[in-house]
Amino acid sequence: MDIKNLKKQAQKELNLLVKIDDLKEFEKKYLGKKGKVTELLKSLKNLPQKERRLIGKEANELRDKLMLAIKAKKEEIKRNEIEEKEKQEWIDITVPAKKIEKGHLHPLTQVAEKVEEIFMSLGFSVIEGPEIENEWYNFDALNIPKDHPARDLWDTFWIKEPSTKNQEPKLLLRTHTSPVQIHYMEKHKPPLRIISPGRIYRYEATDASHEINFYQVEGLMIDKDTSVANFYFIMEEFFKSFFGKETKIRLRPSFFPFTEPSFEIDVLCSICKGKGCSVCSQRGWIEIAGAGMVHPNVLKAVKINPKNWQGFAFGMGLDRLAMMKYKINDIRLFYSSDLRFLKQF
Ligand code: PHE
Repeated sequence: MDIKNLKKQAQKELNLLVKIDDLKEFEKKYLGKKGKVTELLKSLKNLPQKERRLIGKEANELRDKLMLAIKAKKEEIKRNEIEEKEKQEWIDITVPAKKIEKGHLHPLTQVAEKVEEIFMSLGFSVIEGPEIENEWYNFDALNIPKDHPARDLWDTFWIKEPSTKNQEPKLLLRTHTSPVQIHYMEKHKPPLRIISPGRIYRYEATDASHEINFYQVEGLMIDKDTSVANFYFIMEEFFKSFFGKETKIRLRPSFFPFTEPSFEIDVLCSICKGKGCSVCSQRGWIEIAGAGMVHPNVLKAVKINPKNWQGFAFGMGLDRLAMMKYKINDIRLFYSSDLRFLKQF
């Protein structure tokens, strides 16, 4: 076969190649031990010298060219393979990503924030107080002297202090948010308007409506001539904003050592609208807060003259607000960390 044809044929075959295995086959076919070009080179020795030189040169050139062409083809095939892979592994960045689970605020926090928002719009500031108190703030300053039976209204977690055995006043976990009133009035002169949401502790057996800790929001307003009428207006404003315009409240006489007169605030049951149901224990009304006009002894304890200043205070159960708003029948759910419950808010 003459060299030109061999060259043409090789070229043609090479152009059609797409697979690396075929290329190897091709290489063997032409340049292998028994390959066509190899054979050609071997056969040179049988030719007369003149032709040998001429054909030898061409044959060598053909071998070199083929080697280069094979190398180039190898690279081309590899490049194609990579391109092909890239096409298959292409990432569609417009496909929506997997949702990352986001947490959210606890329902009680949401309720506390709502309460704060409403009272702030009525001119109240939001104040915080400590959860560990001493008995002076939690009781004495609130007109509940030692050994007074009224202390039994609050079942208390007392804190033992190992280092100082007979520490006075004794430490405790606050049983209500009312001590914040004292802290605030010690440091600020009236007129005052504050609320203070926070955690409180009671040494009690737990059930659907009792927990050993829960949340209250305290309120305090002191001014020159703040009256029960002002108090009623603020409370009505608050509950209508919180539960809706048709909400009704009522005051019942009650007793707290730190208020005189004292009231219990009831809200018309949002579930039965006053008819009586299991949520309101057939009463039609739900007790939601303790309140009253601040007792003169409390003002005296913080060196505010009760002749010049007066006002009201209230303490509301945040848990109960949340339970009514979301129709939850067991307070313990708030503290269960059960995601099936929490995810609903
Ligand atoms: N501290 C009272 C309680 O926990 C509620 C209250 C607050 C009553 C302020 C009157 C005034 O029961």
